[in-house]
Amino acid sequence: MNQNEQVLIEWEERFSVGIPVIDSQHKQLLITTNELYKACQFGTELLKVQFKKTARDAVAYVKYHFSTEEQIMEKTAYPEIAAHKKHHAEFIQKVLKDVTDFENGKNFVPNQFVRFLRDWILSHIAMVDNKLGDYLIELQKSGKLGKISMKKQSGTEKQMVLAIDDSKTQLTLLKSILPQYDVYTCESPINALEIVQNMDVDIILLDLAMEEMNGFDFLKKIRADLKLRNVPVIVISGNSFEQHIKTSLNLGADEFIAKPARPDELVQKIKQVIRKRKG
Ligand SMILES: [Fe+2]
Repeated sequence: MNQNEQVLIEWEERFSVGIPVIDSQHKQLLITTNELYKACQFGTELLKVQFKKTARDAVAYVKYHFSTEEQIMEKTAYPEIAAHKKHHAEFIQKVLKDVTDFENGKNFVPNQFVRFLRDWILSHIAMVDNKLGDYLIELQKSGKLGKISMKKQSGTEKQMVLAIDDSKTQLTLLKSILPQYDVYTCESPINALEIVQNMDVDIILLDLAMEEMNGFDFLKKIRADLKLRNVPVIVISGNSFEQHIKTSLNLGADEFIAKPARPDELVQKIKQVIRKRKG
């Protein structure tokens, strides 16, 4: 597949800091950077519309990601938290200024901006996040790192939904129809397994047909894990044959919903299942 025109940067294993929660958000940051890059390929008028929307989404995601890292640093008493936070704050300030300049029609070169984003993310991962990763891995080895709770610490605390599907379109859709939840998306079921082992997830929305590992195998794995056997799971699949429904439920899914999921039905089932599991 020739993606040269569409992709500015792709995830490589060498970018891993060894902490799945952080890695998967970094992957998402690279996806967002690619989306901005794609928006740069449009003609002037479309570029304005598309870039404006994507840039604001990107800023929101970057803030979310930074707050995740900062919560982790606070909870684990990371000694270099001040310098790390400063790095984040300066970046947000610069990006917000650039995006505002763009919105106000000031001198702004989208292509340059996207390349700046890419370079910043990669050097931040290599220089700053890697140090944090090493610190957390040491804590983990000595058994001092418990589950990292990703929940917001103040304000209206949203429940956390982990959506696993190898279709990015489906994940974007789920995120958009569940604004009342903190929806965390994952395209790789293998990464999702690591995430669920390290995060307090309130419910999992699980696709069945995935190349890397199908939903049935994912279900088997978490139901066989003492710590994860009670995590609520709703299977959302395009294969709604009797046998798929039966197998999903037999393997420990709490509910089965056929794609496309209707927002009202989905929200109702999420509430029911969480209530049932948590008692
Ligand atoms: Fe960071």
